Amino acid sequence: MSTKQPMERRKFLSKIWKWAFGLVAVAGAWTSWDVLQPANPGGFGGKIKDGDPADIPSKGIETVSAAQAYLTKEGDEVVALWWRCPHLGCRVPWCETAGEFECPCHGSRFNRLGEYRAGPSPRGMDRFAVEVVDGTVVIDTGSITEGPPPGPESIDEPPGPMCIEGGE
Ligand code: FES
Repeated sequence: MSTKQPMERRKFLSKIWKWAFGLVAVAGAWTSWDVLQPANPGGFGGKIKDGDPADIPSKGIETVSAAQAYLTKEGDEVVALWWRCPHLGCRVPWCETAGEFECPCHGSRFNRLGEYRAGPSPRGMDRFAVEVVDGTVVIDTGSITEGPPPGPESIDEPPGPMCIEGGE
């Protein structure tokens, strides 16, 4: 009896250690899996699916509110612009009559591709990574590229009557 007791105790402690190690391993795996998940799948900050790229007007824009984005096209390529003004962050609406984006806060203006036209913005509108997967536009709102610096516009689409106050 006296020689058997230490063995049982050793076995018991060994089992406890194995269980503890198993629990730590499970907790670690769960934490790793949780950390690697997108912060907000399907919402802003994650990848957001839109419709058929053929539905995006070639000389206009389509608004995707869930992505805070405007979709437009550069040739056949889909461009996803963040509607946040690079100046101080106001939402920049599309002005249909002018065919450009016009910021109501301080008057920055951008052409249909989000390229800088006028105002205090330091650059063109920022853009999201976008791809077409199985015929569906997918906007990655977690992947943002700064808009291009002011410079010559790459499209020849002169503005019409402006929407913001003081417009021509
Ligand atoms: S926030 Fe758009 S011009 Fe200032």
